[in-house]
Amino acid sequence: MCPGSYDPVTLGHIDIITRASEVFDSVVVGVVNVPVRKATTVFSAEERVAFIEAEVADLGNVQVKPFYNLLVEFARENDAKAIVKGLRAISDFEYEFEMNQLNRKMAPDIESTYLMAAPQFSFLSSSGVKELATFGGDLTGLVPAAVASRLQEALKR
Ligand code: PNS
Repeated sequence: MCPGSYDPVTLGHIDIITRASEVFDSVVVGVVNVPVRKATTVFSAEERVAFIEAEVADLGNVQVKPFYNLLVEFARENDAKAIVKGLRAISDFEYEFEMNQLNRKMAPDIESTYLMAAPQFSFLSSSGVKELATFGGDLTGLVPAAVASRLQEALKR
């Protein structure tokens, strides 16, 4: 299970999903369809799912699904053995450590695992990309081309 808000998916997310698909037999990308610490999303869950599906179409063992419940419940519904998350910097650790403890308490049988971000993506975040798009910055190499144009349309001031 590779969970996230993916608003929008970045090339860093795609790298983690691709690497997870090489380690695990089967990968479900879970797209959160409830606001998590964020009031609104730029893209609907359906749009976020579609952006990811377009990028993982060549990976035979990856499915993309929205979810509306607790991550561990959704993981169970999909018979997931592990939750896979990407870690960029030490700043990610505190939040992920908290999530890890909460998820472990609810579902000790589902192991959370972490893949280190590739160096070229270690600075990359969906929120940073949205800020760049708002001010007309170049999104090349940060998000898929289709996402870049839709994001610029949606956010350009
Ligand atoms: O950083 P993100 O992409 O917004 O992370 C989303 C998610 C679901 C991976 C993160 O919030 C998490 O690990 N949540 C665990 C707690 C939970 O199940 N919350 C309710 C569903 S969002």
